[in-house]
Amino acid sequence: MNCAERLVALFGSQAEVARRLRLDRAVVNNWVKSGYVPARWAMEVEHVSGGQVSAADILNEANTRKPVRVKSRPDGENFFGSSLTGSDAMNEFAPKKRISSFHPPQRTLMGPGPTEIHPRVLTTMSQPAIGYLDPVFVEMMEELKSLLRYTYQTKNPLTFPVSGPGSVGMEYCFVNLVSPGDKVVVCRNGVFGGRMIENVERCGGTAVVVEAEWGHPIDPQKLEDTLKANRDAKVVAFVHAETSTGVLSDAKTLVEIAHKYDALTIVDAVTSLGGSPVLVDEWQIDAVYSASQKCLSCTPGLSPVSLNQRVVDYVKARKDKIHSWFMDMNLLLGYWGETTRTYHHTAPTNSLFALHEALLLIREEGLDNCWARHERHHIALKAGLEGMGLKFLVDPKYQVPQMNAVFCPEGVNEAEVRKRLLDEFGLEIGAGLGPLAGKIWRFGLMGYSCRPDNVMLCLSALGSVLDDMGLPVHVGDAESAAHAAYAAMHVKAAQAKKKVEKKAA
Ligand SMILES: Cc1ncc(COP(=O)(O)O)c(C=O)c1O
Repeated sequence: MNCAERLVALFGSQAEVARRLRLDRAVVNNWVKSGYVPARWAMEVEHVSGGQVSAADILNEANTRKPVRVKSRPDGENFFGSSLTGSDAMNEFAPKKRISSFHPPQRTLMGPGPTEIHPRVLTTMSQPAIGYLDPVFVEMMEELKSLLRYTYQTKNPLTFPVSGPGSVGMEYCFVNLVSPGDKVVVCRNGVFGGRMIENVERCGGTAVVVEAEWGHPIDPQKLEDTLKANRDAKVVAFVHAETSTGVLSDAKTLVEIAHKYDALTIVDAVTSLGGSPVLVDEWQIDAVYSASQKCLSCTPGLSPVSLNQRVVDYVKARKDKIHSWFMDMNLLLGYWGETTRTYHHTAPTNSLFALHEALLLIREEGLDNCWARHERHHIALKAGLEGMGLKFLVDPKYQVPQMNAVFCPEGVNEAEVRKRLLDEFGLEIGAGLGPLAGKIWRFGLMGYSCRPDNVMLCLSALGSVLDDMGLPVHVGDAESAAHAAYAAMHVKAAQAKKKVEKKAA
């Protein structure tokens, strides 16, 4: 049976295949008639079929049925007229190993990011390339900016994705806001606060550090005391959701305190955006950055930022030259600004298509539903992990739903557990960093990875591995605890709905 026939056999009918893949029936009929599934559907089909029809099978079959033909010069013909005999001379630099096309395995990603990518995002990303100044692309950029404003809950005109991962968004904020000699208060309660200090120092600034123990939120009183003693501080920077520990700090209060002392704020929302409320306008955050590969469920490589008017005016008034050409806000405005569209750098067009689709999915779900989904599955996962006897690092009041850090039980080789989860169940979870290396596991529930099937797979896989390693874990207990948590939430939701209906009647 070819892949198209296997799909039909798996789901019972062409109509059902079409329904599951959200396609027109005629498309599936065409696959069956032509005897293969086109290569661009490989990942989505593998996902929807739960790996029963693998992407590798589809790609191999599609390549045999409809090979991509590339016109090449006949062997030996030397275009540049040199005396070298083409392939032989060049083969000296060729890899020794025989290399074929890369097909990543299907994994369940429940680490600190990247997350699984929604099939609609993958499909959109594989559309034909167009130029970054193409009028159609320019129109898409405007939509993308408006979707980002929705996700950030802001009206800031300067809200756009910087080309590069979250670290580039971080650096973008620091190079634009910190001049040599500036004093910057940085709050550190994990790895990424530490990176902020590095950024300040590389910009020639002086970092005054507000420390908090790893796993604890930033103490607002400590920030206020530090600002009282450093009234010349120009900027306050902190991480909203510290990915290394899974702790959430009170962004609204920290920004309020910074403003009381006339400092601008830089907020890292890499792990929070899309998973927990980030209300840029209401909390009056001045500069914020995030990353595409966490709760936005997109490919890594884009860093959405939003800067308010205070920041724009501040940067425009700088007398010194911004240290980075690539990240100079004034220059990037020429491409992402409201009115002009001039070449700055070659924008990663297909990644931007993908981000547009990822944000559209959030818009369709509704931002508040998206936050609620992260909370719901966090509660179920937590019930299961605690049901297994595992302890959370962070106090429940400050836990980030999308980043669950738990202590590895005494005497267990934590790396061995992660390896077995990956090898035996295709499940990726995260390790501890810095002082927590070897001591904790980090379970991500971000974006498209935040689903009940992932919660259940994770609990059952972890239970099975720990049981096998001789721990007093009863396989099935964790799943029962998670089911009970889901059931309790369903009852609560039904009661709330009834109350609303009664009020409306
Ligand atoms: C809180 C936080 N900030 C910054 C970063 C850096 O982002 P990236 O790895 O995309 O460069 C990360 C990455 O995990 C993060 O979790």
